[in-house]
Amino acid sequence: MSSTYLDAALEIAREAGEMLSGYFTRRVAFELKGDFDLVTEADRASEKLIIQRLTSRFPDHSIVAEEGGGHENHGRYRWYVDPVDGTTNFAHSYPVYNVTLACECDGEMVAGVVYDPTRDEMFAAEKGAGATLNGAKIEVSKARRLDESLVSTGFPSRKRHLNINIHFYHQLAMTTHGVRRGGSAAIDLAYVACGRLEAFWEFGLHPWDMAAGRLLVAEAGGRVSDMKGRPHDLLSPHLLVDNGLIHDETLELFGEVFRGEYRFPIPVIAAE
Ligand code: IPD
Ligand code: CA
Ligand code: CA
Repeated sequence: MSSTYLDAALEIAREAGEMLSGYFTRRVAFELKGDFDLVTEADRASEKLIIQRLTSRFPDHSIVAEEGGGHENHGRYRWYVDPVDGTTNFAHSYPVYNVTLACECDGEMVAGVVYDPTRDEMFAAEKGAGATLNGAKIEVSKARRLDESLVSTGFPSRKRHLNINIHFYHQLAMTTHGVRRGGSAAIDLAYVACGRLEAFWEFGLHPWDMAAGRLLVAEAGGRVSDMKGRPHDLLSPHLLVDNGLIHDETLELFGEVFRGEYRFPIPVIAAE
C-alpha cells in the first residue's frame, strides 16, 4: 500500500502528531469557539503545519480544515484535515486524541490516515488497497450479534441540547457489552476498522471528523451508512459504521428508537 497521497498523509500526520505530543505534555490553555466548543493553540499550530506541508506538495489541491485555514482551488483533489480530533480530551490532558487527514479525488476518498501520538498508532487506508495499523493489515471484527459487541458513540459539543443520541445510547447500552464514549470520533472509526469495536455512531459530525475513518472502515471490510442504512454522504452529520455482521440488527434497534418504541424503557427515578 503506497501512493503519493497516502505517503504524504502518513508523513504529515506523523510530523503534526509529534508536535501535538509536545503541546500535550505542556498542557496548553483552551479558548471557547462556542459555549462548550474548545480550541487550543495546538489545534491552530497543527493545522498551520499540515496546510503548509500540503500546499507545498500539492499547490493546486483544495483543503477543508476545521480551524478555517483551508482554501478552495476548484480542482479534482480535496483534502479534509482535522488538526486535533478530540480537543476536549487534549485540553484536559485526557490522552485520547489524534490527527487525521484524507484525500478525495473527483468526489471519492482515495487515501486517509488517523494518527494517535499517545500510542504511536498510525491507521492508514487507501481506496481498493485495504487498511493497516502501523503497516500491518487490519480487518473488522467477526462478532455476529449485538449481545457480543462493544460499541462506541459520541456527543458533539455544538448544539448539544438538541442532540437525540441519549435515546440510542440507552438502548445500545442495554443490548451490548457496553457503549464507550472516547471523545475522538476518528479513533472510534479506526477502532471499528481494526476490530476493537463492532460499531460506532454519532449525530453531528463534520466531514473532517469522518473522511479518513470512513475509508478505514470500508477498506477493513466494514459497513458505512446513515442511521437508516442508506449510503452515507460525507456532508451528512449522521454516521453509523459497523463490522457488517451486526448491521441489520443495529438498524432494527435504531428503527425502533426512531419510532419511539423502546425495548428498554429509561428507568424512572423513584421519589424518596
Ligand atoms: C470532536 C470529537 C468528538 C465528537 C465530536 C467532534 P473535535 O472533534 O471527534 O469525539 O463527539 O462530534 O466534533 O472537535 O475534538 O475535533
Ligand atoms: Ca474532530
Ligand atoms: Ca478538531
